[in-house]
Amino acid sequence: MSPSNSAPALALPITDEALAERLRRRMAVVEEALAGHARSEADFVTEAAQHLMEAGGKRFRPLLVLLAAEAGDRADSDEVITAACVVELTHLASLYHDDVMDEAELRRGADSANARWDNHVAILTGDWLFSKSSELTADLGADAVRIQAQTFTRLVEGQILETVKPGPGVSALDHYLRVVAGKTGSLIATSALYGARFGGASNEVEEALAAYGEMVGSAFQLSDDILDVASETDESGKTPGTDLREGVMTLPVLMALESEDPADARLHELLRGDLTDDALLAETLTLLRAHSAMDEARRYVIARAGEAKARLAVLPDGPVRSALEAFADAVAIRSA
Ligand code: IPE
Ligand code: IPE
Ligand code: MG
Ligand code: MG
Repeated sequence: MSPSNSAPALALPITDEALAERLRRRMAVVEEALAGHARSEADFVTEAAQHLMEAGGKRFRPLLVLLAAEAGDRADSDEVITAACVVELTHLASLYHDDVMDEAELRRGADSANARWDNHVAILTGDWLFSKSSELTADLGADAVRIQAQTFTRLVEGQILETVKPGPGVSALDHYLRVVAGKTGSLIATSALYGARFGGASNEVEEALAAYGEMVGSAFQLSDDILDVASETDESGKTPGTDLREGVMTLPVLMALESEDPADARLHELLRGDLTDDALLAETLTLLRAHSAMDEARRYVIARAGEAKARLAVLPDGPVRSALEAFADAVAIRSA
């Protein structure tokens, strides 16, 4: 994959052209490095590991590393590129595993690894990618290794908690928010933290950006969950309705279940039942898409993105802060 002609467009609109150009140039370097990191002496391992990497993806996390690094005075350091690769490889590993647990057939517009090969290949390729990511993190020092390990611990705990019911005294919403923070907030927080740290930002900025990343990351997952209901096509490169089919109760579902309107009786019955049947799933999606819970969920996400932006107050006014604000806005209203 040649970085000069196939580097993906930036996953967010950046109005400052000089900053946008710098980030595009740096993302092309990340892209080339990523392809190299996903290479094995065993051809089949390379094929399996590069399958989803080449299929697409927004590269949202490495872009956040590069952007957060712009808040420091060493944004051009090699360590920033390494950190960007670490977070994308960790993310990619989690996607191979996620598609096994969600029995998903489509990812990044391509067959998921479990669909293309089988669960064993998908799980082991995810493990292999995670190991490559850990090996690379060692180049960043022991603290970075510890952070990456802690991040993956949180991510996996989030994924595990998604498969169990809330504990006694824990509301369904609190349980879900904990899952979201773990499975997605953790790695996006680390992306911002790594960027700030290896870009040479102050401790104060590093802390603020990590908190911002945690909130933006949760908002990103909440938006993704809304899109799982709202999308009427597989434009996102995934199959809509997957959460409902798998029985994962996400924000709009939890909000719709709060309603006491008798007109919602059928929707509640469907949501509490088994939605593996295509016709029942389609009926549920139609009812849910028209429900006021969808807008309520969108407003909730916009409020969380607003809280994330408030953490940027420690940064000086300028293109970097504006881009990070735009990043939070784009996450809240994302459509793909
Ligand atoms: C998908 O992440 C998994 C979630 C945390 C929602 P992305 O939406 O960043 O997926 P890619 O990398 O663009 O495919
Ligand atoms: C993905 O969660 C989270 C991780 C990969 C860690 P989802 O299952 O909600 O994401 P998609 O919709 O499949 O991308
Ligand atoms: Mg999934
Ligand atoms: Mg999942």
